[in-house]
Amino acid sequence: MSFPENFLWGGATAANQTEGAYNIDGRGLSNLDFMPYGELRFQVGTGNLDPKSLPANTFFPSRVAIDHYHHYKEDIALIAKMGFRVYRLSISWSRIYPKGNESKPNQLGLDHYLNVFKECRKYNIEPLVTINHFDIPMYLVDEYGGWKNRLTVEFYLKFTETLFKHYKDYVKYWLTFNEINMVLHFPFVATGLTFNPDDNREQITTDVIHHQLIASAKATQLAKKINPDFQIGCMLAAGSYYAQTPHPKDVWKSILDSRESYMFSDVQVRGSYPNYYLKQTERQNLTIPVKNDDLKILRDHTVDFISFSYYSSRVSSAKPDSANQTESNIFSSEINPYLQTSEWGWQIDPLGFRITINEIYDRYNKPMFIVENGLGANDNLTEDGKINDDYRIKYHKEHIKAMSDAVTLDGVELIGYTSWACIDSISNGTGEMTKRYGFIYIDRDDYGKGTFRRIPKKSFYWYQEVIKSNGENLK
Ligand code: BG6
Repeated sequence: MSFPENFLWGGATAANQTEGAYNIDGRGLSNLDFMPYGELRFQVGTGNLDPKSLPANTFFPSRVAIDHYHHYKEDIALIAKMGFRVYRLSISWSRIYPKGNESKPNQLGLDHYLNVFKECRKYNIEPLVTINHFDIPMYLVDEYGGWKNRLTVEFYLKFTETLFKHYKDYVKYWLTFNEINMVLHFPFVATGLTFNPDDNREQITTDVIHHQLIASAKATQLAKKINPDFQIGCMLAAGSYYAQTPHPKDVWKSILDSRESYMFSDVQVRGSYPNYYLKQTERQNLTIPVKNDDLKILRDHTVDFISFSYYSSRVSSAKPDSANQTESNIFSSEINPYLQTSEWGWQIDPLGFRITINEIYDRYNKPMFIVENGLGANDNLTEDGKINDDYRIKYHKEHIKAMSDAVTLDGVELIGYTSWACIDSISNGTGEMTKRYGFIYIDRDDYGKGTFRRIPKKSFYWYQEVIKSNGENLK
């Protein structure tokens, strides 16, 4: 095994799932402040229920989260103790521009992230910044229609310009959008979209996709103008699709399913809409809202590297069977009988990780950054205050081994690996706190109650060894 000497080992979080402090220091409300805990969450997340219609006593877990806003020093000291070389985090848009359309940013918000980056640098931790991890100021959604409206591209660019200028001496690696393909699966979460019954959903989604792709390309252009050394990445919710059988129809379906995700990175990496997407939109009578020099912008400002999340592979069938679907409903798939599942029904496939890494590298031949990978599990805090999360160690051990095979046996170019989420945080899909991913336990329950005490788990010390040995020691 040998990872490059400068391989960036670390972990990832997102503002909406960790920061809390939703109304502190001038922060405005975001779409994710309206994501409820409980059975209505999925309907709101998919854009099928207006969150404004939720009952008054609804609990919104992101508003409190793990209070990373006030605990960031303690949290960064802990990840430094694990030996992190990189910390992936996102910026809450409404902390910088509370409504989204202001002419001046919120100074307290700017100061906060500057302090966070300084704290990272103090420990030689490279920040990896997701400019937009799903959130959008709710004001932009309510007043302008959010990403449906081309104007949001300008608001986003203003936001990115502020970040690039303000943090140019602290941050080198930027991701324009987290899991840009998530708009197809969880549109309210990913982009703030809520649909009316008579909406043309496909056309609206096509508009939003184009606006985000243009925003990403223009942000890349802007970034290079401000600092040519910036490294800009796209970010995809990845996971290879296997055909359920060798029947050509199943194989074809797996190609179609893959294209649904790769369309986004095809544009961001290769610089143009792929023919299969142009033909598909034409067949569906959809218009890609291309304006002026959009196509040139897409062509000229492609990304430097490809980042992605990987949790599981998926199975495609020409005849999907509703009785044979995985429980993870955002990316539901046929069940793969050869794989085990997590407590939340996510199928565990380390070799699928190697397959996915290779598939992406074969497609683009560009450096890659794995920015999310991990196991959501219910941890048990023992009476003597310990968390013996051997299952999490096993998951990471197998996935890191698969990643190592991709590097050493297949020769893929990898910049780094940030596990999700290095610190327990609110689950994006379920809103639960009990779906824990971290190496660091947070004493908080699903309703926001607890001491918020941080406790290193057994996996904390295991990952510390992995980093110290540059991935050699996985025992
Ligand atoms: C990714 C997101 O989709 O998966 C994260 O980028 C999310 O925000 C992660 O938390 C794990 O999903 P979940 O639903 O278990 O939190």
